[in-house]
Amino acid sequence: MTNDISVFNTVPQAPPDVIFSLTAGYKADTDPNKVNVGVGAFRTDDLKPYVLPVVKKADTILFNNADLDHEYLPIAGTPSYTKAAARLILGENSPAIHENRVAAVQTISGTGSIHTGATFLSQFYKKSKKCYISKPTWANHRNVFALVGFEVEEYPYWNGEKRGLDYEAMLNTMREAPEGSIFILHACAHNPTGVDPTREQWQGIAEVMSEKHHFPFFDCAYQGFASGDLDNDAWAVRYFVEQGFELFVAQSFAKNFGLYGERAGNLTIVTKSSEETKRVFSQMEKLQRSEISNPPAYGSRIVDIVLNDPALYAEWKENLKYMSNRIIEMRKALFERLTALGTPGTWNHITDQIGMFSFTGLTASQVKVLKEKYHIYMTDNGRISMAGLSTKNIDYFAKAVDDVVRNV
Ligand SMILES: Cc1ncc(COP(=O)(O)O)c(C=O)c1O
Repeated sequence: MTNDISVFNTVPQAPPDVIFSLTAGYKADTDPNKVNVGVGAFRTDDLKPYVLPVVKKADTILFNNADLDHEYLPIAGTPSYTKAAARLILGENSPAIHENRVAAVQTISGTGSIHTGATFLSQFYKKSKKCYISKPTWANHRNVFALVGFEVEEYPYWNGEKRGLDYEAMLNTMREAPEGSIFILHACAHNPTGVDPTREQWQGIAEVMSEKHHFPFFDCAYQGFASGDLDNDAWAVRYFVEQGFELFVAQSFAKNFGLYGERAGNLTIVTKSSEETKRVFSQMEKLQRSEISNPPAYGSRIVDIVLNDPALYAEWKENLKYMSNRIIEMRKALFERLTALGTPGTWNHITDQIGMFSFTGLTASQVKVLKEKYHIYMTDNGRISMAGLSTKNIDYFAKAVDDVVRNV
């Protein structure tokens, strides 16, 4: 006899994911002028998903490879891929690479990489159970670290009045945090604000983190996509390595390869010695085995081909420039339109910000009217994905923003 009461009867309903429900609302909207500036995926000027030409070439190479089989990949992923990914973020001449202090594990895109790193830290990092995320940040930072048992705290990041980085407040929180806390840092193109520390500010951050023995966990979801220059976008990570930090970097190839669904990621690990690296890597393999057994092959094969072929690599850089330039053009176009309309307020933060997103400063009630009156979809915090704008909808969008800024 089974009991009538379900074993799941105490499971509470979880709230829907904000970003994915925004997209669902947009899809269901039948208005011809609707605009989706919610989702963080690149779109062409025709607002279509973009398959990078270099990815198409790598795909053809894969398709024509008669030797290709569908065996399991090694537990930690394909070495040529993980090595290339680590080289990409740390740089050819990284002291850590030359001293064999780098390990790398292939992960389920950036999210999986953060998860793998966080889970490892929850087991082996003994200095602190506190982990600091920026305020605001990408929602999954809290989700992932809380899931594996960390006490998640926030450090100030965005100063609404200045429409920029709250640098001093950020440093103060770092100074006051317990020794050896974990800090999640966005390597470039901070999501959602689009505001990155300057190089000088990164140096200040590194100084305080070093004094307090904090552990830097970089999230690098936009290398090459932010400025169009892979080295420039990796500067902060490389600077921390040069300063002698041990650190993790979660890399995603979703945005910079346009491989959103393929889930190609990597966790790059820098430690103090090659001997330590070996032990850490062995535990990472053990962890990966219990979580996913082996990583998926298709997306990582494409990235592997491109990163290890000089001609394709050069072509990838051109594809990256096209994407980042389109975003930069849209920033300029929006700024020009709002300035021409005389929209109250200052708008130069739109062109100063970097990467996929802009934190407009629009309020939740303005965002609501934009959706109800203009069929424009964005998150309540006023973040817009620049890739959702195009030469076709920019006038409509700017006029709508002008209206709500004046009247709501
Ligand atoms: C800041 C940040 N980190 C990580 C990711 C990871 O994304 P994915 O798991 O698709 O690689 C994203 C994607 O939006 C992001 O914005």
